[in-house]
Amino acid sequence: MTVQFPTDREGDVSIRPAERADLLAVVRIENASFPQPWPYDAFDRFLGEPGFLVAVVEGRVAGYVVADVTSSVGRRVGHVKDIAVHPERRGEGVGSALLSRVLAVMAAHGAESVKLEVRRSNERAKRLYREFGFEALRRVPDYYDDEDAIVMIRKLE
Ligand SMILES: CC(C)(COP(=O)(O)OP(=O)(O)OC[C@H]1O[C@@H](n2cnc3c(N)ncnc32)[C@H](O)[C@@H]1OP(=O)(O)O)[C@@H](O)C(=O)NCCC(=O)NCCS
Repeated sequence: MTVQFPTDREGDVSIRPAERADLLAVVRIENASFPQPWPYDAFDRFLGEPGFLVAVVEGRVAGYVVADVTSSVGRRVGHVKDIAVHPERRGEGVGSALLSRVLAVMAAHGAESVKLEVRRSNERAKRLYREFGFEALRRVPDYYDDEDAIVMIRKLE
């Protein structure tokens, strides 16, 4: 199912499940976004996962999110594992549209809460997550090779 999100900046963004044909564009955005990017195979393994979504703007993949829902001590917990927007498309609402949609997908799959890890220095991402109701839970020293992570969490209704 494709969902249209009107953005207040440039045009509309469509959110839909990722397909194999999207993976090269996804990997290109990943490489442009992270010092330790996921390889192609890591994304390939998530194809078919309801929480692997791409955002399409003007017919091109502009960003993606990878999330899943697992059971932990009897509770369904969502985990946002990766999210990025093409550097030229940032600040247009694409990341917000992806996050909004993936939270709905995880809620539909029974998640009671959602967690994610973010680099301690990544103020832009932390601001986005706070806008979506995430709160810092704890710090994980050296989670990334060169930096601590902040674990953020929010409940879902
Ligand atoms: C984090 C990221 C996914 C956000 O995507 P985006 O499409 O730029 O986000 P949006 O346009 O929806 O903006 C959402 C919020 O992010 C923050 N934001 C966006 N652009 C910003 C900027 N230039 N400076 C500071 N904060 C900014 C704001 O809080 C914004 O809210 P607003 O719309 O009320 O201003 C994107 O910046 C990105 O891909 N970063 C590199 C990869 C990354 O760090 N991923 C997160 C890993 S945990």
